[in-house]
Amino acid sequence: MEITSNDIKFIREFSGNLYKDLEDIRKFAEENYIPIAKPEVAAFLNFIVKVKKPKKVLEIGTAIGYSAIIIANAYKNANIVTIERDINLAEIAKENFKKAKVEDRIDLICGEAQEVLQNLTNKYDLIFVDAAKGQYIEFYKEIKRILNREGIIMWDNILYKGYVVNEKNVKHKRRTIVYRMREFLKILNEDKTLHTVILPLGDGVALNFKEV
Ligand SMILES: C[S@@+](CC[C@H](N)C(=O)[O-])C[C@H]1O[C@@H](n2cnc3c(N)ncnc32)[C@H](O)[C@@H]1O
Repeated sequence: MEITSNDIKFIREFSGNLYKDLEDIRKFAEENYIPIAKPEVAAFLNFIVKVKKPKKVLEIGTAIGYSAIIIANAYKNANIVTIERDINLAEIAKENFKKAKVEDRIDLICGEAQEVLQNLTNKYDLIFVDAAKGQYIEFYKEIKRILNREGIIMWDNILYKGYVVNEKNVKHKRRTIVYRMREFLKILNEDKTLHTVILPLGDGVALNFKEV
């Protein structure tokens, strides 16, 4: 027997207690319909950062800074560049970084990720992608260029609310995203330069590891 959505709910409740000090941000996000990483994804991100100890981290999709603060707290030597296109969310994120006393290690770039990525020249040890699902293929091309050797990419929401698997229930407006996400997963699967795993966490998480 395989895991069911009830098991996933259990895992979520179990993971929910890990971040008491970030509860205010989570509550604010919930009340204002701002999507942030699900508790089990946040717990996994925290775990990966603790194991990997990445000095340079890139995040695409800051929202109000919840996941960036988790990364900063998980490893005190991590320096983070995070990209957000919504100026209002970016302002709230900056305030949250100050409150969490991590603002000196987080550089928030407000802009369209695709454009910002093209101008990045540094290499990153961990790249967390949590932004427009329809653009993952474009992000992928740029991200591979700036991923360090032994670097990890973590992609959130790759099963897109279950629609990537369960195409029947997809409304018309979401179809393009689903097709693009399937295409993206096919590209990941066929790319032999990276090791890839897909995990049934939250909305689906994919991980790449660049060995050489
Ligand atoms: C799911 S939220 C990020 C949540 C955040 N990572 C967290 O867990 O706290 C996605 C964010 O990505 C931003 N975004 C989406 N597409 C983007 C793009 N192409 N460039 C920059 N930001 C983007 C959205 O404005 C939104 O705030």
